Formats: sequence, structure tokens, C-alpha cells
Amino acid sequence: MKFTTFAFVALAAFFSCVVAAPTLNSRDVFVPPVLTPKQGDVWTVGQNQTVTWDVSGAPARLTNPHGTIMLRKGDRTLKVTLASGFDILSGAINVTVPAQPAGDDYAIVLFGDSGNFSPRFSIQSTTALS
Ligand SMILES: *[C@@H]1O[C@H](CO)[C@@H](O)[C@H](O)[C@H]1NC(C)=O
Ligand SMILES: *[C@@H]1O[C@H](CO)[C@@H](O)[C@H](O)[C@H]1NC(C)=O
Repeated sequence: MKFTTFAFVALAAFFSCVVAAPTLNSRDVFVPPVLTPKQGDVWTVGQNQTVTWDVSGAPARLTNPHGTIMLRKGDRTLKVTLASGFDILSGAINVTVPAQPAGDDYAIVLFGDSGNFSPRFSIQSTTALS
């Protein structure tokens, strides 16, 4: 009985430490919401599109001021970088739509301190190229 109680307390203490650790520096983590592309937007391969995000919640001091935008399809983030090394506080960047199979389950991921997904949008290929 005594051992069981002790083991439970030790286990509970262990797990509360594990849970508490990742919240360090949470004040500086900036995860801006993506404003465009919007749900249902259609991007055409080769076009330039503007990605925008809301910088109004930015903290005074950023852990990582440089942004990266990657492409995501379905539940997977692709190894396709649309832009990187830009100022995360700029709120907008122009990207060229990469050659990707047509689909309506694309999204972009904006990485700064952390990653934030856009809503789903479509990519279509240009009929002129076919
Ligand atoms: C698209 O953007 C690239 C650089 O990101 C630029 O070189 C190119 O001229 C732009 N194309 C159009 C059609 O605006
Ligand atoms: C994106 O391109 C548009 C049109 O070419 C231009 O007006 C705008 O300033 C560009 N934005 C950025 C963040 O480069």
C-alpha cells in the first residue's frame, strides 16, 4: 500500500515536470494567423501570389525574426519552400506558385517561432502549358 502511494506521487511529480518544461519562453513565441491565401482560393502554377499574415499580436522581442513559408498538401508538409529569410514582421510576401499536381487540399505553413497553417486552397495547372 505504502509503496503504491509513493509510486503514484513520484509518477505524478515526474509528469508535471515533463508537461511544464516546454512552456519556457512562451511569451516570446509569435504565431501570426495567416490572412491569405483564404479558404477556397485558387492558385495557378507560375503565377505570383501574395501571402499575408496578421502581425498585430507581435511581441516586442522575437526569438526568431525570420520567416519561412512551406507548402502543405492534405496532412503533410511538403519539402517545397515558397519563401524564406524574410522579416516575419513584414506581414506580406510575394511567392511564385510552384509546379505541383492540381489539387484542392493545399495550404501554406508560415514558420517563425512556430508554425501556423493557412486554410485549404487549390492549385491548378495552366491550361496554356498542356
Ligand atoms: C514574380 O515574382 C518574381 C520574384 O519573386 C519576379 O522575379 C517575377 O517578375 C514576378 N512575376 C510576375 C508575373 O509578377
Ligand atoms: C507583391 O506584388 C505586388 C504586385 O506586383 C506589389 O504591389 C506588392 O508590393 C508586392 N508585395 C510584396 C510584399 O513584395
